[in-house]
Amino acid sequence: MNTKKLIDLLNYDLAGELQAIIQYLQHSYQIAGVNRPQLHDVLEEISKDEMKHAEELAERIVAMGGTPTIRPRPIVAAKTIKDMLTADLKGERLALKDYAERIKQAEKMGEIGTALIIENILVDEQHHADKFVMLLRQQK
Ligand SMILES: [Fe+2]
Ligand SMILES: [Fe+2]
Repeated sequence: MNTKKLIDLLNYDLAGELQAIIQYLQHSYQIAGVNRPQLHDVLEEISKDEMKHAEELAERIVAMGGTPTIRPRPIVAAKTIKDMLTADLKGERLALKDYAERIKQAEKMGEIGTALIIENILVDEQHHADKFVMLLRQQK
């Protein structure tokens, strides 16, 4: 592992954050029915968290001498609320797994500040995943 490799991995993470921002907004726009007021706002709020994560990662990438990506990973389209929440939960679980690995990789390099920043992001992703799990339970 070297700085270049870590920058590449952080850019991979950033692409996931950019995907989450757009995907959650898109899902929030599409939600209809009696659940709309509540679910729309939850998704919009989570999207804003992802925006903060993207900014944290981008600032780290620039400080380390890299260029932050502007390409999101593919957005997952969904028609029903259940499909949306299932896709969103899957994304959060992937982020949890990737960030757990990233923390170890950054620590190994002595990049403790980077590791701590990612730890904070991981805590948010855990909250997001828990929220999606509970919202999914309400869906029949
Ligand atoms: Fe995030
Ligand atoms: Fe998240």
